[in-house]
Amino acid sequence: MKLGIIGAMDVEVASLKNVMENKTERMIAGSVYCEGTLEGLPVVVVQCGVGKVNAALCVQTLCDCFSVTYLVNTGVAGSLNAALDIGDFVISTDAMYHDFDCHTLNPDYPVGQVPGLAVRAFPADERLMKVAFEAADHICPGHAHFGRIASGDQFVCQKERKEKIVSDTGAKCTEMEGAAIAHGAWRNQIPFVVIRAISDKADDSAEMDYPTFEAMAAQRCAEVIRVMAKALQESE
Ligand code: ADE
Repeated sequence: MKLGIIGAMDVEVASLKNVMENKTERMIAGSVYCEGTLEGLPVVVVQCGVGKVNAALCVQTLCDCFSVTYLVNTGVAGSLNAALDIGDFVISTDAMYHDFDCHTLNPDYPVGQVPGLAVRAFPADERLMKVAFEAADHICPGHAHFGRIASGDQFVCQKERKEKIVSDTGAKCTEMEGAAIAHGAWRNQIPFVVIRAISDKADDSAEMDYPTFEAMAAQRCAEVIRVMAKALQESE
């Protein structure tokens, strides 16, 4: 097993690199790929940058240049569900786009549906979901949740937009990379899971809460990945 780990933010990638061993680094298309071991597990860690295109580029590079066999995406997200508090974790059951909309072209294409693809939401891998949930529950007991992730090239900070995304997707949280990573994983037939810590409520309070909780949530994600890598290595 070789795990590709895509982080959105500097802080979480830096904390993972700090605890990695046997590290070598390569720069490809402006991103630094750090290969080594994490708790003995072969991994490649990369900070992809914000948004769907940045995320997809890193997925394909991890597949083509590093031959990863599993993918994890981690970072922060805005909550779309009143039961989810800041600091809670969402482990993806699946991921879909909230800003992909071809319904005017054809009513058979609801929001999220990419024409020509057999799925609207990309399903996460059951084994990775279980290991991720157990790791998140270990770090913050009682604060891990399974749910759908909705991604788009937008920082969501208005109640009306939030409500539309909820009604279009039924997702538990929103962020800007997960579905693109899931899409790339699906096209390459690589199992994936997205692990997100809630940094804000994706409403009118989001611009205030995000900077305050970003670092704390990202740090928690990095710790979950470390625990997860340990569990995966022990089960190899
Ligand atoms: N990442 C963290 N919070 C977010 C939000 N409200 N919208 C999009 N991405 C996010």
